[in-house]
This record gives sequence, structure tokens and C-alpha cells, in this order.
Amino acid sequence: MNLTAESHRVPLSDGNSIPLLGLGTYADPQKTPKGSCLESVKIAIDTGYRHIDGAFVYYNEHEVGQAIRDKIAEGRIKREDIFYCGKLWNTCHPPELVRPTLEKTLKILQLDYVDLYIIELPMAFKPGDAIYPKDENGKIIYHETDLCATWEVECHPYFTQPKLLEFCRQHDIVIVGYSPLGTSRDETWVNVSSPPLLKDPVLNAIGKKYNKTAAQVALRFSIQRGVVVIPKSFNPQRIRENFQIFDFSLTEKEMKEIEALNKNVRYVELLMWRDHPEYPFSDEY
Ligand code: A2P
Repeated sequence: MNLTAESHRVPLSDGNSIPLLGLGTYADPQKTPKGSCLESVKIAIDTGYRHIDGAFVYYNEHEVGQAIRDKIAEGRIKREDIFYCGKLWNTCHPPELVRPTLEKTLKILQLDYVDLYIIELPMAFKPGDAIYPKDENGKIIYHETDLCATWEVECHPYFTQPKLLEFCRQHDIVIVGYSPLGTSRDETWVNVSSPPLLKDPVLNAIGKKYNKTAAQVALRFSIQRGVVVIPKSFNPQRIRENFQIFDFSLTEKEMKEIEALNKNVRYVELLMWRDHPEYPFSDEY
């Protein structure tokens, strides 16, 4: 596959295509200054990113929409150049809520369409106004659900998902791997006892050879495997750094060395919801 900054899209069976590198936009709303998402998405578009990953539950989707609209107004891009992925939150799983929830998202974005709309997590919560509905003991109220859709999959050198990847290859399914750099290590929802991915000696040694960072090597590894990655960064230097992955390539031997780093380490375990009947991470895939 010929991967360049201008052309790194994977064709989809409906005739559309998805860029292999996208910008993730989740940041803790309590700790993130207003406007940083807006600025970051604009910097990303100027850098060359054409895929933006967002969600209603990130509380900054209006900033994503504004950034895309501003760049369209500037004449920098057209709407059809951008691939935007939005997500259906856990309280909106009943089929009759899907369309109105998507319409709400479009209103927030002030865009006419999203390119992809996925189930944020396959674990339904009780529908209603509360995003995290709780009972009198403070426990999240779950909701029965009937899932027949695909959801995103964590994927990086410590969690290479060989079986899932093979299955998807056989069935022509494109994987979008979240947290390709090993997450923000927010201890409220990440298993921080797992070693930090970007400190890995092999990734750093390979990076040294190409004058690249461990992050760039981890991202390059994923896109060379055909796995779409959506690293979040609101730091201008790192937004640009994460895009500088089209001017080198890993050899077959290096790809194998990185594949061998797999430790089946899942950073995003969401253990607080492990008693949900649809908790997905106990299954082998
Ligand atoms: P920052 O926004 O300060 O750059 P996610 O798992 O949601 O994709 O998050 C990725 C995390 O890694 C974020 O905390 C982000 O923080 C950080 N990050 C993004 N790019 C890099 C990079 N090139 N090197 C180190 N950390 C990075």
C-alpha cells in the first residue's frame, strides 16, 4: 500500500473511504480549557488530517463542528474532504432513539451529515436525560439491549489483536483502533498498572534508527497493518508529530518485532461496568 500524507485512505465497500490516520478528540472536560478542541482540530486540518473522531459524550463536539465549518469557510477544505465519526451514547440505544440522537449531534456540529456513526460502547444505560443515570446507591442503571453492530477496538503494539484482525481481513472489515499510543493513562478508567507503551525499548530503538519517536513508530505500525488510528492530541507539536508518519516505512522484520511486543494488555478495561450483562471485554475477540 502506498501511504502518503495526501493519500492514506482505505476503500470501504459502500464506495466511501476512510483515512488511516485521524485525530482523536476526547479530553477530560473538567481539565481541558474551552476552545482547545477547536484550535486543535483547526491545526490538525492545516497539518493535513482529514479524519476527525468525536462524540456527543466528549462535550466538545460543537467545537469540532465549528473547526470544520471554519476551515470550509476559509476555503481550505470542502465538507467531502473530511471524514467525521460521531458516536451514539449508552443512554440512546433503543432503536427509536437512534435517529433523533443523531439529529441532535448534527445540530451540535451544525453539519448536514456524519461519515460514520457508531455505538460508543456496547453497554446500554437507562435512557433519559442523565448521561450517567444512577440509582440511590450511586450505581449506574443498566438497560437491556440487543446489539447487532460493530464497535471500535483498542489496538496497539501491546494489544495487537491478531485473531480479530485476521477475522476482519477475511470479511473485508476495516478496524479503527482507539488509543493507538496507549491512552492518556487517566487512572479513573485506564488500567495504569500496565507498562506505558511509549516507553517501550523496541519502539524507541526503531524510532532512533529513523529519527522518529516511539509514538510515530507505533502509529506507523498500525497503518502499515491497515488499522485506522485516531490518536488524540490537543498539543500542536504532537498533532503535527503524529502526522509525520508518511515519510518512512518499517521493514517486515521490524513489523514482526513490534508484533512480538503483544502482551494482551488492554488499557481501557472499564472495570467499573464489568457486571453489565453486555460487558464486552471478557470475550476472546
Ligand atoms: P496530548 O493531547 O497532551 O498530546 P488517546 O488514547 O485518547 O488517543 O489519547 C492519547 C494520549 O497521548 C493523550 O493524552 C495525548 O495527550 C498523548 N499524546 C498524543 N500524541 C502523543 C505523542 N506523539 N507523544 C506522546 N504523547 C502523545
